[in-house]
Amino acid sequence: GDPRDLVGRHVVVSAGGTREPIDPVRFIGNRSSGLQGYALARVAAARGAKVTLVAANTALPDPAGVSVVRVGSALEMREAVQSVAAAADVVVMAAAVADFRPSVFQGSKIKKTDKNETLPIELVKNPDILAELVTRRTPGQVIVGFAAETDDVLDHGRAKLARKGCDLLVVNQVGENLTFGAPDNAGVILAATGAEREIPRGSKDQLASAVWDEIAALLA
Ligand code: C5P
Repeated sequence: GDPRDLVGRHVVVSAGGTREPIDPVRFIGNRSSGLQGYALARVAAARGAKVTLVAANTALPDPAGVSVVRVGSALEMREAVQSVAAAADVVVMAAAVADFRPSVFQGSKIKKTDKNETLPIELVKNPDILAELVTRRTPGQVIVGFAAETDDVLDHGRAKLARKGCDLLVVNQVGENLTFGAPDNAGVILAATGAEREIPRGSKDQLASAVWDEIAALLA
């Protein structure tokens, strides 16, 4: 695309993976490194956008020229994303948001005892931030989701796009040695229009550029 096609646009990108606290020292988390989300933020800034990056538990340096908001849990991410989304032209949810969190936070460290061979932890569903964004969408706003799947990637992706109601859903295959923490990625960009664009394996910046090309076309 045009190298400066996002000038005057405010975009929000989420990245990383949420951590759902169990007690003061433990959490339930996932394997997201944040690399793909940071690439999306960096590429958008390079194309002229004003970028807010909502980063969950990443160990990456703040990209130059990007405003970074750090969060821990899914509920914190929801607060942070909602507070900036209304004024944004584009929201890209690249973060791995935990689908569930422990239903109670134990205020002091859970101890192991001789009596207990198992430790049940009840989980409750987290709000779906992406689906909520869609219900509050402002006129012309573009909303993009990501889906990491281990199998039947395209079928799950198409179903998820329809269920969440976003404009674009980027699906990629994950598993051993694939995607998490890796410098490269591959995927398919699914559009609500039914269009599907396959992005061959390449750098996460290349995938990010392809995603911004599709977003820019929707904004135009
Ligand atoms: O349903 P699933 O977690 O596979 O959906 C992935 C997409 O939905 C990602 O874009 C992710 O950021 C978003 N998501 C969300 N809130 C959740 C779960 C996922 O925004 N609670």
